[in-house]
Amino acid sequence: MAFTIAIDGPAAAGKGTVGRQLAAHFGYAHLDTGLLYRATGRRMLNGEGAVEAAMNLRPEDLGAPDLRTPEVGQAASRVAAIPEVREALIDFQRAFATRAGGAVLDGRDIGTVICPDADVKLYVTAGDEVRAARRLAELTSTGHDIDFQTVLADLRQRDARDSARADAPLKPAEDAILLDTSQLTIDEAVATAIAEVERVQ
Ligand code: C5P
Repeated sequence: MAFTIAIDGPAAAGKGTVGRQLAAHFGYAHLDTGLLYRATGRRMLNGEGAVEAAMNLRPEDLGAPDLRTPEVGQAASRVAAIPEVREALIDFQRAFATRAGGAVLDGRDIGTVICPDADVKLYVTAGDEVRAARRLAELTSTGHDIDFQTVLADLRQRDARDSARADAPLKPAEDAILLDTSQLTIDEAVATAIAEVERVQ
């Protein structure tokens, strides 16, 4: 039986970490849907039209180097506001969500648009300065030379654009469980998420 966990929230809130560890715990597959938009944004930065890039996306694009940079994140957030881009990526995400054996998807519109019938919906959030500090540590550890204020401004700009767009804006689904990770360690956030899933299983 397909069991689907939808995780949404703003940039760098811990969705990916929680999603990956939930999937590992329950033996489900995990899809970071932000990678679809980042890979589309990357192809756009290389000169391709955004809609064409989304329609032609290949699995190997998701493994391209440097998809995590702020530059690609901004490009992702710009292509993500184009309805035809979002449309082109829907079937792949829904097929992933309903695969046998269970799936965890994280993104911005999973509980609201992609999987409105998900078995569990989590909205993972954290204060913007906490999120910026975490993203800064991640970028610095992978060799990027960037400062806190730049990361903070980048996250705020992306969150504002993602929340304001007309098509599939960032917002919690009405039936989502809110998980604020500001004061939590990774292990605590994951343990809370596991407990929420076990309640409905
Ligand atoms: O999650 P991540 O920060 O990698 O996502 C990059 C961008 O992709 C987001 O800022 C957002 O604009 C877009 N996105 C989206 N819908 C999703 C996942 C990501 O619009 N489900």
